[in-house]
Amino acid sequence: MKAIRVYEYGNPEVLQLEEVADPVAGAGEVLIEVAGAGVNPIDWKVLSGAMKAFIPLQLPFTPGVEVSGKVTATGPGVTEFKIGDEVFGFINIVGGYASKAVAPVAKLALKPQSLSTLKAGAVPATALTAWQALTEHAGVQRRQKVLIHAAAGGVGSMAVQIAKYLGAEVIATASASNHAYLKQLGADDVIDYTTQAFEERVSDVDVVLDLVGGDTQNRSFSVLKRGGLLVSPVSAPSMTLANDYGVTPINFATRSDGAQLALIAELFDRGHLTVDVEVFPLSEVQRAVEKSQSRRGRGRLVLDPTRI
Ligand SMILES: NC(=O)c1ccc[n+]([C@@H]2O[C@H](COP(=O)([O-])OP(=O)(O)OC[C@H]3O[C@@H](n4cnc5c(N)ncnc54)[C@H](OP(=O)(O)O)[C@@H]3O)[C@@H](O)[C@H]2O)c1
Repeated sequence: MKAIRVYEYGNPEVLQLEEVADPVAGAGEVLIEVAGAGVNPIDWKVLSGAMKAFIPLQLPFTPGVEVSGKVTATGPGVTEFKIGDEVFGFINIVGGYASKAVAPVAKLALKPQSLSTLKAGAVPATALTAWQALTEHAGVQRRQKVLIHAAAGGVGSMAVQIAKYLGAEVIATASASNHAYLKQLGADDVIDYTTQAFEERVSDVDVVLDLVGGDTQNRSFSVLKRGGLLVSPVSAPSMTLANDYGVTPINFATRSDGAQLALIAELFDRGHLTVDVEVFPLSEVQRAVEKSQSRRGRGRLVLDPTRI
């Protein structure tokens, strides 16, 4: 099979396309012929070596946390999926940038019927992150005011749609070229963070979903109500500021969850969610990862391993 291999930590130049042996599905796993593999910020954070203390990996490795595609083999004990099923999942911390991947069945669901397998490969990590942030961590209720930073990105674009589905009023931050897109996804108001400080436009917020970190995260305390929630998968919010503003700070890591992904697939098929993708052939992985590193753009980047 074709796979992107990393022999040393570094910049996108270390990503190499190679021919390697097919992986084999073990007990409770399936082999997937990958049609789409999402490119996420975690991929280049892992690639750089910045996370090797928390996520030790054996070199060489194949980056990529999520895929969609057809099941071509099932391991011992698998009854949940059969050969030919089209599945998607947040499969692991690595393994997705390839024409074939193995994944435990508990991390998979049938892909939405309304999405191609290519597009479905761009969904699991972002949709699970947005869903867990807004439902499990923030417990968003109807008519609550939710501010979403980096709303046009992979997680943000899912979060805007999920927050609207939950009945919230949604305020989004994005650069001007993404405002029409975010209105189309349902955002009630969009702030151009490049020309205006969001604190000048919004206050009394129930929940901030911070997808940027740093200064944006610190400035977000001042727009929250006392008793509000600052939820971030990027970094742990300051406890000092949380105490000063009477806000609950929440930092979390996304959990892979096939059952939750089945629910997300249903939301796509019922028309509550859509995804915007930019497709790169697997051979153009370096360009795709560089684009992700730029932190500009819309929706999610996805690799197509059928185009080399
Ligand atoms: N801990 C976990 O388990 C976990 C899980 C998922 C994601 N994350 C983290 O969450 C973050 C977001 O992930 P993602 O996949 O959504 O990223 P992404 O798709 O790469 O985000 C790109 C978007 O960020 C926007 N942006 C950049 N700087 C901004 C700013 N200062 N204010 C507002 N928007 C800004 C850009 O908007 P414009 O193009 O409009 O400028 C662009 O649309 C990443 O740091 C990622 O590592 C963590």
